[in-house]
Amino acid sequence: MLELRNAVRHYHQGTRIVEAVRGVSLSVEKGEFVSIMGPSGSGKSTIMHLMAGLDSPTSGQALFMGRDLAAMRDRERAILRRTRLAVVFQFFNLVPTLLASDNVALPLLLGGTPRPVARGKAAEALARVGLADRAGHYPDEMSGGEMQRVALARALVLDAEAILCDEPTGNLDSASSTQVLDLLRSLADDGSRAVVMVTHDSAAGARGDRLVRIRDGKIESIERPSRA
Ligand SMILES: Nc1ncnc2c1ncn2[C@@H]1O[C@H](COP(=O)(O)OP(=O)(O)OP(=O)(O)O)[C@@H](O)[C@H]1O
Ligand SMILES: [Mg+2]
Repeated sequence: MLELRNAVRHYHQGTRIVEAVRGVSLSVEKGEFVSIMGPSGSGKSTIMHLMAGLDSPTSGQALFMGRDLAAMRDRERAILRRTRLAVVFQFFNLVPTLLASDNVALPLLLGGTPRPVARGKAAEALARVGLADRAGHYPDEMSGGEMQRVALARALVLDAEAILCDEPTGNLDSASSTQVLDLLRSLADDGSRAVVMVTHDSAAGARGDRLVRIRDGKIESIERPSRA
């Protein structure tokens, strides 16, 4: 479903070359929940962005359902992310001038879904992340954890086949964090979706079917945490 084949990503910083990702091969299938852990700066977000087609590998390939993301036109990749491949960013990317409900409905509205239908689905998605009562709030009226969950609801509303989240529990208290992890787990468990989560939290990482440890832009190890 999602696959990196010997993906390399170099960035130029002035005269220096940063080797953010140095040859990563990883595939994630439907029904699977994969967590990615590693020190700050080890390349986790870059790996996620490559998998989502938000960034292109310097060499190697990133595939979605067997198709090379870099070979698609920008428009096709944009549509893909609005329909089948949802991304929850580390820094939320909420639109500050839109209510929580409209932030969540946005990908549907952009795709041409009629407003009442989009509103209804947004309300459902907000309820799933425990924020039914925050639909009428603006992002700056919410806590970091609430904004994080709005960002997750915005990914859920698409009913995408692949969901990639960068630190989805980073700002959450333990009750909200458990709720989000249970939700991600159930999204994978129904067999129709691939879920990838980047996290610093080892308890969160252990909820994955596979836990991939990244160090210096490479896969250091892959563990199979036992499911409690
Ligand atoms: N757009 C960019 N331009 C230049 N360097 C970048 C860019 N994006 C990332 N890097 C560098 O690539 C390396 C990996 O960054 P990345 O964001 O993938 O790390 P990370 O593991 O997600 O870290 P964190 O846990 O702090 O989020 C870092 O050294 C970073 O400075
Ligand atoms: Mg990161």
